[in-house]
Amino acid sequence: MSVFAGKNIVVGVTGSIAAFKVATWVSDLAKEEALVHVVMSRAAEKFIAPLTFGALSANPVHTEMFSADQHHSMAHIDLGSEADIVLIAPASANTIAKLAGGFADNLLTTTVLATNAPVLVYPAMNSKMFSNRATQRNIRKLKEMGFTVVDPASGMMACKETGQGRLPEWPVAKEHIAKALSKQDLKGQRFLVTAGPTRESIDPARYLSNRSSGKMGYALARCAWRRGAHVTLVSGPTSLSVPTGVEYVQVHSALEMYDAVLSHAEVSQVVIKAAAVADYRPETQSRQKVKKDKIELILALTQNPDILFELGKIKKKGQLLVGFAAESENLQEEGRKKLTKKNLDLIAINDISKSNSGFETDTNRVLLLDAGGENQLPLTSKDATANLIVDKIVSLFANNCCT
Ligand code: CTP
Repeated sequence: MSVFAGKNIVVGVTGSIAAFKVATWVSDLAKEEALVHVVMSRAAEKFIAPLTFGALSANPVHTEMFSADQHHSMAHIDLGSEADIVLIAPASANTIAKLAGGFADNLLTTTVLATNAPVLVYPAMNSKMFSNRATQRNIRKLKEMGFTVVDPASGMMACKETGQGRLPEWPVAKEHIAKALSKQDLKGQRFLVTAGPTRESIDPARYLSNRSSGKMGYALARCAWRRGAHVTLVSGPTSLSVPTGVEYVQVHSALEMYDAVLSHAEVSQVVIKAAAVADYRPETQSRQKVKKDKIELILALTQNPDILFELGKIKKKGQLLVGFAAESENLQEEGRKKLTKKNLDLIAINDISKSNSGFETDTNRVLLLDAGGENQLPLTSKDATANLIVDKIVSLFANNCCT
């Protein structure tokens, strides 16, 4: 089930040209089965009609502070106390100033005063207005007060000026909401996650690689960030977007991954090696493209370092090492061998002989092995699998597995 399903989300729309973009946000949240209640400021109504939000959210849109309708006479209290989260998007400079000052002069600002739910503020305005000292002071104040302020994106704005002040793209904005709705049981922890294949160059045009899409590793990085961890993602080449909030290190070959992982491992409490590292690389790499009549028909290979094995040798007290294993037969036996040989705390085994788990799929069916036993996870999305793997990591820490 999605993190948004069944959640009461109040979306406060204020006066900014970006108000129309929030129609897509409301529509997508409603598709995720969230219960969306839109509150609009007077200025917002100049940019987009309440009818649009009403149709997309399938709920009445709130615009009036004082209503004679007995069902809505205390709308600010009801909206505020029933909310799981309040979003203010786009947040105009004026609304940001009012929130920083604790004003309650319209339904939205009053609702914010009347809620205990997390409040996410998405400023969107002209870049000079955004960088203005008063706006920056107000944003600092909001952060001190415990609001989450999501930085606006940079680019060309409606006024044709270029700078910072654009409403973030929905996938980025959505991740911040997912984080605010997730338990924060990894706060203060550092995760290092590897993902994707590696490419072992033959010449500038050719390489050896494998079928890894990177989806499982990216799902783990996203999940750990949502649950509060600082995440470094070391990734081989994939076609996926960089997950919001993570520190991203792009690598190509196994040797590059080895260097990146070793330089980040020391400070990480959890290292998850979901990458499909190539075990071998061509013995020589040509700087120029090799002409087909000059290609050796037998390619000489040399072994790459086993990064996980090296990490197992230098594992510190209190550090938890998680490996993956791509297997097509004898899953338990092969997995246990790798668990012991590489000095791991946990191994997630993918049955790559099945069409709906392992490489290039959106689903996975993973068998988890640790020193204490095994858990067969259900066939489910890679996002849900990532959550279950992180649950297992949290329970291993709770049982002092690696102290
Ligand atoms: N791994 C690694 N470095 C390598 C090869 C693998 O760090 N050079 C890691 C993978 O990221 C994964 C685990 O080791 O977490 C197991 O990878 P897998 O390909 O299943 O196993 P191998 O150790 O390569 O053994 P085999 O291919 O013989 O099954």
